[in-house]
Amino acid sequence: MRVLVTGAGGRLGSDVLARLRDDGMRVRASSRRPRTGPDVEWVVADLATGDGLAEAVTGVDAVLHLASSPRGRTHQVDVLGTRRLVVAAAAAGVSHLVYISIVGVDRVPIPYYRHKLAAEQVVAAGPVPWSVLRATQFPQFLDDLLATSARLGPVLGDRAVLAQPVDPAEVAARLAARLAAGPLGGIEEFGGPQVLRFDEAVRTWREARGSRRRLLPVRIPGRLGRELRAGGLVTEALPRGVRTWADHLSDTYGGTARR
Ligand SMILES: NC(=O)c1ccc[n+]([C@@H]2O[C@H](COP(=O)([O-])OP(=O)(O)OC[C@H]3O[C@@H](n4cnc5c(N)ncnc54)[C@H](OP(=O)(O)O)[C@@H]3O)[C@@H](O)[C@H]2O)c1
Repeated sequence: MRVLVTGAGGRLGSDVLARLRDDGMRVRASSRRPRTGPDVEWVVADLATGDGLAEAVTGVDAVLHLASSPRGRTHQVDVLGTRRLVVAAAAAGVSHLVYISIVGVDRVPIPYYRHKLAAEQVVAAGPVPWSVLRATQFPQFLDDLLATSARLGPVLGDRAVLAQPVDPAEVAARLAARLAAGPLGGIEEFGGPQVLRFDEAVRTWREARGSRRRLLPVRIPGRLGRELRAGGLVTEALPRGVRTWADHLSDTYGGTARR
């Protein structure tokens, strides 16, 4: 099978490329700028303009669509760009498009999630047989969030928000399994092994980093806070990943984190 991976140079993308190479797939990878790498054919394509998309999908059997722009032009890239990709994939006779989304896009009122949900709907309404995998947050995302917050003083957060970090390499394996299984014509969810309260995640993060930054509790107001505390970002779907938040902390900061 020949597969196009969009957003292949991103965090999840690098794990996906490694996984597909190990599985012996023929991989084409797209980025907005020229790149090179072993055993991968890199092409240049931009979802915001559509430049390069027709060439990128020519001759591929399936597309793993990971590219996203959460910090600007999100409607243009994630929603309209996904539509451009679907149209190009249909014209090229692609037989499966797998879209990566996020657990909670249908519940949690975050602007980025509105765009992800709209992109899911574009994929589902399009003519290319499809699958959507909604994953929970990657531990690096939570780690970056805490590090950024701690730079300015105490870590600000709502103690009772629930998270379920999942290792992107395990998400990559799940995406590869979905490719092998064929189009689902539906949505599946995949989360990490543990549901953590924010204060627990911060406690182990501080221990792992030897940080003295305190958690300064704030209560996130309104529907956003209610959804986040009620588990809007977590899933009961099985199977789950096996690598824990503590595993991530131990890999990143050394062996002090406890399970
Ligand atoms: N981070 C999380 O915790 C998490 C959890 C669940 C699901 N997800 C989803 O997983 C996917 C990948 O996340 P990630 O954290 O790996 O993201 P990332 O590192 O930011 O990678 C996203 C990639 O999108 C590409 N991109 C941005 N604008 C583009 C455009 N106009 N045209 C084409 N490509 C464009 C960029 O590639 P170039 O710069 O090379 O062009 C970038 O490498 C996203 O769809 C995200 O919603 C993320």
